[in-house]
Amino acid sequence: MANNEELFKKITSHAKEYGFIFPSSEIYDGMAAVYDYGQWGVELKNNIRNYWWKSMTQWHENIVGIDSAIFMHPTIWKASGHIDAFNDPLIDNKDSKKRYRADVLIEDHISKIEDKINKEIEKAAKRFGDSFDKAQFVATNQRVAEYTAKAQEIQTKYASLMQNNDLAGIKKLIEDLEIVCPVSGTRNWTDVRQFNLMFSTKVGSVTDDADTIYLRPETAQGIFVNYLNVQKTGRMKIPFGIAQTGKAFRNEIVARQFIFRMREFEQMEMQFFVRPGEELKWFEYWKEERMHWHLSLGISPDKYRFHDHEKLAHYANAATDIEFEFPFGFKELEGIHSRTDFDLKRHQEFSGKKLQYFDPELNESYVPYVIETSIGLDRMFLAIFSNAYTEESLDDGSSRVVLRLPRMLAPVKAAVLPLVKKDGMPERAREIMEDLKYDFNLIYEEKDAIGKRYRRQDAIGTPFCITIDSQTMADNTVTIRERDNMQQERISAEKLRSYLSENINLKKYRK
Ligand code: GAP
Repeated sequence: MANNEELFKKITSHAKEYGFIFPSSEIYDGMAAVYDYGQWGVELKNNIRNYWWKSMTQWHENIVGIDSAIFMHPTIWKASGHIDAFNDPLIDNKDSKKRYRADVLIEDHISKIEDKINKEIEKAAKRFGDSFDKAQFVATNQRVAEYTAKAQEIQTKYASLMQNNDLAGIKKLIEDLEIVCPVSGTRNWTDVRQFNLMFSTKVGSVTDDADTIYLRPETAQGIFVNYLNVQKTGRMKIPFGIAQTGKAFRNEIVARQFIFRMREFEQMEMQFFVRPGEELKWFEYWKEERMHWHLSLGISPDKYRFHDHEKLAHYANAATDIEFEFPFGFKELEGIHSRTDFDLKRHQEFSGKKLQYFDPELNESYVPYVIETSIGLDRMFLAIFSNAYTEESLDDGSSRVVLRLPRMLAPVKAAVLPLVKKDGMPERAREIMEDLKYDFNLIYEEKDAIGKRYRRQDAIGTPFCITIDSQTMADNTVTIRERDNMQQERISAEKLRSYLSENINLKKYRK
């Protein structure tokens, strides 16, 4: 665990040092759980969003996109259930005056038990060496079995208490588990209360009369309330989808794990409208399709897993998370939910407007059922960034940090580097830049020795470095260095466009 914590610290400081992510309002000491994207961060984020957007809309004939406003009619949040039920259970420690999410205190307690299991496994692995069979050890070791049963028992108990909104029961569970405040070290807890996560503000000129409105906590409702507009104007036939990316806001109490849990973040959501009764078939389809999208980025399949929800929200009849192995363990990256006709029916009820579809094949009208895919852009950024971060020892005894980003997502696709600042090399390099910059995001660098410049590009994940040297001046060839294997080859400058196109191609990432 300590090693992973160390690694995570390195990843967050690399993100800052190389212009990917800065704490918000840093010169004023920052704001918890709010971050700004720097010069390379914004490029990487745009590229991830763009890949998602293209794969959803451009590559699916029956999915279109929208961009709805962040401010919406306040009744929308009543209809969706967010005003009444979008809560976190909070508890305060009376001595430290610190506030915690009750579920996170319990989750952390379970993580500690899991750490103990991992320690047992590590110890045994050392003891048995090459002959160690992890699966067999986990299945047969008495201590591991006890820890596993304990963790499961707590999990089940907590899920049932939450399901029944039994706040007193949750407090008792925290007391029974003897969980202490990490700051004061005491067990002097307040009662557990529900706390709504939506930010509110006022709209209107006179504060007293103004209406309370909310910053949207998800982008999905902007899709539901536009369902009929899109269906009619786009003459969409079921099954069809509406996609949207945009900011969402949640007053998260536990601010930690960098950009994993933020108060202002971005979602990429798609609602897929289907015939009632066909939703589970489409749920399976989207599970597979979304996992394929993740794997298409070339990240190891071992890093991903599904976590099917056993306890379902009242409006869902199937739900799963795609979890990713972040440096702090497997956590939710994306949710896929079969939301039935809950949202459209509620909006029908609260707005008084019919939100139905006339199905010409069945010759009947119905409220469509919905499959939702919902992924956090910032979380996806963290998944890609943390997976790409690599420290390498090289054969010559030196070391380097390289971001092994999927090439097509890299902020800069190629660096154009004159070997020296004379003999016409900078001018030739500028000509190459001019020729290619409309097709690829390039960077020009002439400062420092070439090795140092390569390292700087490695650190921001640039897949190719194009070097202009004396031979270029003689025969118009350049060297092109690949980021991951550091191999160089010499090609004609005329072939650069086709070389880069071939090697940074979205199509390569598809089925
Ligand atoms: N419309 C469904 C919905 O919003 P969710 O599970 O609450 O479902 C979907 O959120 C995704 O949004 C999550 O899987 C996660 O990637 C991202 N997300 C949620 N809360 C977040 C937060 N506070 N910070 C960053 N990303 C968040």
